[in-house]
Amino acid sequence: MRTKIFCDIADFKTIKLFNKKRIVDGFTTNPSLMRLAGAKNYKNYSQRILKICKKKPISFEVFGDNFDEMVDQAYKINKWGKNVYVKIPVVNSKGVFSGKVINKLSFEGIKLNITAIYTYEQIKKVLKNLNKKTPTILSIFAGRMADKGKDPLPVLKQSIKAVKDFKKIEILWASTREAYNFTQAKQIRCNIITMPPSVINKVEKFGMSSKLMTINTVKNFLEDSKKSKFRI
Ligand code: E4P
Repeated sequence: MRTKIFCDIADFKTIKLFNKKRIVDGFTTNPSLMRLAGAKNYKNYSQRILKICKKKPISFEVFGDNFDEMVDQAYKINKWGKNVYVKIPVVNSKGVFSGKVINKLSFEGIKLNITAIYTYEQIKKVLKNLNKKTPTILSIFAGRMADKGKDPLPVLKQSIKAVKDFKKIEILWASTREAYNFTQAKQIRCNIITMPPSVINKVEKFGMSSKLMTINTVKNFLEDSKKSKFRI
């Protein structure tokens, strides 16, 4: 099994560039990335992206904060394209579990990406509400956990084990912080990892010899000391 690489970005020009890369299997966006990309009209901006990214899976997130809004937005987003996954936060901003929304949409056959997952308890609750025949991504925010001093590997490993018999359900390593996370994701046989473009660029260059790494490092220090005209 191969760990698929998704690109975590909403910027139109970057998606155009990265969509051409064979190493990139799909894309993930979120409202913060959309804002960063300068999107003013969520629907128009997403549809512009979909004119470029026609085949590879891409997730667009709902931003409604209650059951009705989430379901309504999910129906609309789902209609934007066959390759679209509707991203549903596992809870709303008040911490209320989105189980009813997930259950309804999943049993209607809508492809979902359940996002902002941090615990195995959440994974278990989500699984209870999924139609196992509907393609679904479960996004575990590894980097944000690590940023708070929590080891994301146990949750990821348990979750991967829990879905191993369900072909349509995939665990996604979200919130990637460094290129080595790709190696870790492969080691634990995680289905997907989503990475910012800068990290994908590093992964593309994997395989440099230690000898060359050492020479490059020393060269960089030398160049900077020259640029600053250091003298002792
Ligand atoms: C996943 O789909 C999210 O968009 C993403 O990985 C969040 O990453 P961040 O923690 O870097 O914002």
